[in-house]
Amino acid sequence: MIEGESSRTAERMALERAAHQVADSPVVFADPLAIGMLRPEQAALLREHPERFHGSPIAKRRRAIVVVRSRIAEDEIARAADRGVTQYVVLGAGLDTFAYRNPHASVRVFEVDQPSTQRLKHERLATAGIAVPDNLTWVPFDFTRQTLPDALAAAGFDRTKPAVFAWLGVVMYLERLDAIETLRYISTLPTGTAVVFDYALPPEVTPWLVRCFYRRTLKGFARQGEPWISFFTPTPLRAELSQLGFTDIEDLAGDDVNRRYLGSRWNGLTASGFGRIVIARRM
Ligand SMILES: C[S@@+](CC[C@H](N)C(=O)[O-])C[C@H]1O[C@@H](n2cnc3c(N)ncnc32)[C@H](O)[C@@H]1O
Repeated sequence: MIEGESSRTAERMALERAAHQVADSPVVFADPLAIGMLRPEQAALLREHPERFHGSPIAKRRRAIVVVRSRIAEDEIARAADRGVTQYVVLGAGLDTFAYRNPHASVRVFEVDQPSTQRLKHERLATAGIAVPDNLTWVPFDFTRQTLPDALAAAGFDRTKPAVFAWLGVVMYLERLDAIETLRYISTLPTGTAVVFDYALPPEVTPWLVRCFYRRTLKGFARQGEPWISFFTPTPLRAELSQLGFTDIEDLAGDDVNRRYLGSRWNGLTASGFGRIVIARRM
């Protein structure tokens, strides 16, 4: 990210979720507040001309991953809350709206992100008239400069209790070691803890045609000041997660996502390519 500036990719992700509400039917992820996270003029355009946001087949593939990963994280906290888990940590929260429509009265939400992006979110919430609930704690944090256990402890996170972590669209922006350290910390929390995150495959393991498009996409991210810098491959990542103490690991490729979540979508919302979604639990 460009020093001191809010995350542009967080804005793009918010747009994907907002567009999903009007462009895809049926929705796989219902987020009525997503549109409030957009710039007012963009929100107005989406309301007045939803057809402009349907997107190309490539755009739909990107949207598919963005909405399904949020759905998976929110399904995970819903199941965990039923079992008595009371803490949900959204790492690199961006313009995620779960905390403002949290249906689990017992669940406290911790939104962890860089102060610049949090400032933007405060502004967007105020403009949209979305109230900040009492059971939300903002945690200003930079993965490259601070340690997560300290930041969470200072914010009142209880490490003697299990938690669900949503870490969506963030790992690829971090140094590999920072990503692993975060997973290591999460793995030290009590049983019942889970983390949902997505990661990017290294370009060289993707099929040729995907790789050409992928490399171009990566150059675009770098040009915008938010380069992808860490990549993982499924087998070593699973081994690493097991070694850390996660006992139940699901690592979903595009086909898995399509089978589980997108099968009945009529408008070609399909996941594929270079992103995967992991659900790792300590049972
Ligand atoms: C692609 S956005 C994803 C936002 C949100 N999770 C979502 O799915 O919409 C990446 C997020 O990671 C945050 N981020 C990137 N690098 C970070 C760092 N070093 N420390 C803390 N947050 C960071 C950005 O501020 C941004 O909110």
